[in-house]
Amino acid sequence: MSPLPAAAQGPRSFRAMQVDDLDRVMQVEVLAYSFPWSRGNFQDSLKSGYVAELLEASAELLLGYYVAMPGVDELHLLNITVVPDFQRCGQGRALLDRLEWQARQHAFSSIWLEVRASNTRARYLYGARGFVEQGVRRGYYPAGGLRREDAVVMKLDLSQEAAHAAG
Ligand SMILES: CC(C)(COP(=O)(O)OP(=O)(O)OC[C@H]1O[C@@H](n2cnc3c(N)ncnc32)[C@H](O)[C@@H]1OP(=O)(O)O)[C@@H](O)C(=O)NCCC(=O)NCCS
Repeated sequence: MSPLPAAAQGPRSFRAMQVDDLDRVMQVEVLAYSFPWSRGNFQDSLKSGYVAELLEASAELLLGYYVAMPGVDELHLLNITVVPDFQRCGQGRALLDRLEWQARQHAFSSIWLEVRASNTRARYLYGARGFVEQGVRRGYYPAGGLRREDAVVMKLDLSQEAAHAAG
């Protein structure tokens, strides 16, 4: 049995993503997506001061990462990725919990995201963490050749009213 999933169950920590991390991040990005972000997308995000963090089991073992753009009153999740070997063992949940913690630290009242309509796992995960579908952006994503895929827009409401409503 591979030792990697066991390593992913041990202690984990978050730290800010740096330009020096982008070689490792890009190695994961091109494995995880058919249409990956470019290095320039990550560089621009870091330059713009977006919230970007790595989840690591150790300095050598990257588990995943996310990038989110702060707005006036909301955080917009732009990228959330778990290293393929470590998917389906709770890392995505940990990344989303951290994102929510960051949003609350900055007093944002909501988190928004888009997800491919076909991305069942991600949609399930977001729904389980309290995100609610708000609508669809038709043909938002490239899907190969001339084809496009819809994005489902989802929102997590962090306002006081929503917290009370949730009980
Ligand atoms: C989407 C992604 C971030 C989720 O991370 P993950 O570590 O695999 O997810 P987790 O293990 O934390 O949780 C997945 C949840 O979905 C469930 N799930 C997994 N596969 C599923 C499927 N095919 N259908 C429905 N539910 C599924 C799991 O049971 C788990 O639910 P639980 O918390 O109730 O047990 C990760 O798979 C990933 O990086 N995918 C590639 C990149 C990507 O699609 N990013 C999102 C772009 S919007």
